[in-house]
Parts: sequence; structure tokens; C-alpha cells
Amino acid sequence: MATKNQIGLDKAKSKTLSNSLNNLLADYMMFYQNTRGLHWNIKGEKFFELHLKFEELYTNLLLKVDEVAERILTLGGTPLHTFDDYQSTAKIRSIKDVSDGKKGVQTILDALETLIVKQRELLNLSADAGDEGTNALMSDYIREQEKLVWMYSSFLKK
Ligand SMILES: [Fe+2]
Repeated sequence: MATKNQIGLDKAKSKTLSNSLNNLLADYMMFYQNTRGLHWNIKGEKFFELHLKFEELYTNLLLKVDEVAERILTLGGTPLHTFDDYQSTAKIRSIKDVSDGKKGVQTILDALETLIVKQRELLNLSADAGDEGTNALMSDYIREQEKLVWMYSSFLKK
């Protein structure tokens, strides 16, 4: 039996990668839904600014959700797609009824940290598998989100 899949990667290593990507996908979906909640529920003098910022963020997260799910399929896996699975797999917990801007931004910083750490772990796996496709995707996300951390934390500083 062939040990390589159709894109020339080791099947077992691709399986490990797609499992980790599924774990990441669950966190993206929790973060996505949390960000929608913030977009809807935020109140106060920064409403117009944050309402728009959160929309920009969840739109970006939704794109990544699709890219991660389709990378899982490309590697031969099946993306998690039910809320039950997301809830039981993700590290990010649902946040409810947050209307304070600073509190909301802090939850975003926490979620970004979770994603960045998981994506760095994935880089080790993709390097080991010689999977440049996943590697490049994770690198792009990390660089982009590290910059977001700088921006969102600047918002919290006086
Ligand atoms: Fe809206």
C-alpha cells in the first residue's frame, strides 16, 4: 500500500496534520462566533469604531475558516463542521453578553494568543512532514495575527 498521498506527502503525517488543523478550525469557529457577538453587543462611546473593527475581524476569520477546512480536505481529512464538535474540541470558550469595549478587546487578544501558539505548534508538524502548503498558510496567519496583537493591545493602553 502506498505510504504517500496524492500530493506526495506521507499519509500518516498528513493525518496528524489534518487532526491538528481540525483542532485549530474549532478554535477559529469559536472565535468567529464570539467576534460576531461582540459586533452586535458592544456599547459605549467607541461603538462605531469597534462595531466596524469587529466586523472586519470576523470577516477575516471566516475566510480563514474556509482555508483551514479546505487544507484539511486537501490533506485527505474531513473538516469538523458541527457546533457540537467545535464546542467540545476548541480551547477558546464562548463569551456571552460582553458589551464593554475594553473587555471585548481583551477577549480578542486572548483568542489571538491561543491561535498563534497553536499555529506555531502546527509549523513543527508541517516542517516534519515537508508540507510547505500548510507551512506557508500558518506562517501567513502568524505574521498577520502578531500584528493584530500589537494593534489591539495598543487600543488598551492609555
Ligand atoms: Fe453587522
